[in-house]
Amino acid sequence: MKEIKKVTWRSPSNIALVKYWGKKTGVQIPANPSISFTLENCYSETSVSLVEKEGNGSDIELRFYFDGKANMAFQLKILKFFESIRKDFPLLNQYGLLIHSTNSFPHSSGIASSASAMSALAICLCDLQEQLNKKKLSADKFLQKASYYARLGSGSAARSIYPQIAEWGKTNSVKGSSDEYAIPYTKNLHPVFQTYQNSILIASSAEKKVSSRVGHSLMKTNPFARTRYAQAEKNLKELLVSLKTGDLEKFGAIVEEEAMTLHALMMCSTPSFVLMAPATLSMIERIRRFREESKLPVYFTLDAGPNIHLLYPKKIAKKVKAFIYAELEELCENGRMIHDKVGKGAKKMK
Ligand code: PMV
Repeated sequence: MKEIKKVTWRSPSNIALVKYWGKKTGVQIPANPSISFTLENCYSETSVSLVEKEGNGSDIELRFYFDGKANMAFQLKILKFFESIRKDFPLLNQYGLLIHSTNSFPHSSGIASSASAMSALAICLCDLQEQLNKKKLSADKFLQKASYYARLGSGSAARSIYPQIAEWGKTNSVKGSSDEYAIPYTKNLHPVFQTYQNSILIASSAEKKVSSRVGHSLMKTNPFARTRYAQAEKNLKELLVSLKTGDLEKFGAIVEEEAMTLHALMMCSTPSFVLMAPATLSMIERIRRFREESKLPVYFTLDAGPNIHLLYPKKIAKKVKAFIYAELEELCENGRMIHDKVGKGAKKMK
């Protein structure tokens, strides 16, 4: 198979501080604005090669390999995504695509991989199409375009493209914000957040109990949906103040409220889902007790799953890690954890 062009990008996962949970009508339009830390060590690395098409029909020709092995389940997901955006990417009709992807984190670690995987894919497509068009966008516009298409693959993926902190969703609190793409949020940022730490404590690596697609759709009938969307707006506005001033107590209170609300929303959905594991609750108790006793600004957040994301400033990392190994490691599945931190966003590889 003759390779015509190839690009490789590394794109990270992210952890939401104010959560996106629920959609408006339209294509992947969030019901409320969200904001996240971009991670550094948890990423997908994806290469997309354009090859000559084998057939001359209109089907998208795609082969997808994960960790070097053909993976049909992912291939079908990607095909669906590509079908939805093919009108904007002539290359999807003109060439066959050979895609290789790997994750830096184990597949069964319970870390959401859709944000890193979909953002890596979207940015590869944007890069290839730009090269074929021979028309270069400015760096900002290029990232915005990649974020737009990443969002169509997976909402939260829109935020993974940018360094440090990204905001997605139209809100009066953030100038230039949009429902269609994320924007970088680096201006009014206290330096403490530029090196913020995120230790991911694996409470359980079991398969997700509910897909995000189903989770978002359950918000349509959740009796607290309207209140939740108003809360997210308010939390975002207040979080921005703490991101500026470096008020870690305020920051932590909002972030924990967001995590607990996300899980509470799923518990009171119909059908109801409990996405925490027993170890999640034990860890939360120990984290809160440790914070109380040590007076250190150590807070947690959660994704739509059982794993704890411990958030803390770099300068107390030694003390926090000592606490993790003394009290939390034994609650992690096989002692598993990943130490991550605020990262630099998507990166093109040689
Ligand atoms: O991008 P999705 O559709 O997988 O939704 C992600 C939702 C959360 O991870 C729970 C929150 C968020 O904002 O990332």
